[in-house]
Amino acid sequence: MSSAEQFPGIAPPTIGVFDSGFGGLTVLRALLRRLPQAQFAFLGDTARLPYGSKSRRTIARYAVESVQFLIREQGAQFVVIACNTASALALDAIQAASPVPVLGVIEPGASAAQAASRTGDVLVIATDATVKSHAYAAACQARGLRALEKACPLLVPLVEEGWTDHPVTAEVIRIYLAELIADATAHGLHADTLVLGCTHYPLLRPLIERAVPTGMKVIDSADAAADAAVHLLAAHAPSISQPVRPDQPPLRFFATDSVDKFERLGSRFLDRSVGKVELVDLGG
Ligand code: DGL
Repeated sequence: MSSAEQFPGIAPPTIGVFDSGFGGLTVLRALLRRLPQAQFAFLGDTARLPYGSKSRRTIARYAVESVQFLIREQGAQFVVIACNTASALALDAIQAASPVPVLGVIEPGASAAQAASRTGDVLVIATDATVKSHAYAAACQARGLRALEKACPLLVPLVEEGWTDHPVTAEVIRIYLAELIADATAHGLHADTLVLGCTHYPLLRPLIERAVPTGMKVIDSADAAADAAVHLLAAHAPSISQPVRPDQPPLRFFATDSVDKFERLGSRFLDRSVGKVELVDLGG
């Protein structure tokens, strides 16, 4: 679909995409495929990563500050929270503080699981905070699914280290999934679908697919969120009034720390050069 069809009568919008680190680039990659004409500003709050081991209050404060940067300083007219942890624990707080539409990744992920599962039993792997919030279990239950969630706290640091095809990572995944599947069996679940409930995990998809039982479907919340973003944007298109800024490059990247590492690993994860990443200070 061309941008004229996607956004009739208006310039393509600036979309803010936010994650605690590199993982959200999987969502940006999916958005770029669907909305090639839009402008994007991506922020990775790398100084304060991981979010997945922090409290709701802290995650909400970090996420609200990050989204406000994208809206106030980068002119985002629409924001995608490309982080399951922030979506699970802080979507309400972010939406309350935001004058523009904000989309999280949990509901799209649960809808994709519903579409994929035949047995109605699904497994979810995510960060500790996402699992403790039971946001996926609730979203799945609302769709008539039974969900068993498991925290996999070692996976985000392995991705941030760039160990996406490393034997240590493969072994960690094998152990986590074996524990989860044994637990599912003990609970009498006949799970046929695994939701990657953290936007870092799609970067481990080849290793995860090798470790799941034959026939189990692997759902990437990044793709599901990008599809939902296209629908929501179309619905909001008439209210988007701010003109596109031709002085700005269509893709802008910001990080709160480790800019060099972001440039190096980000290009790899996004399958294209991220160019210059700007350092921003959002406070402590
Ligand atoms: N990418 C984030 C998510 O989807 C997790 C990373 C973190 O723990 O900060 O949950």
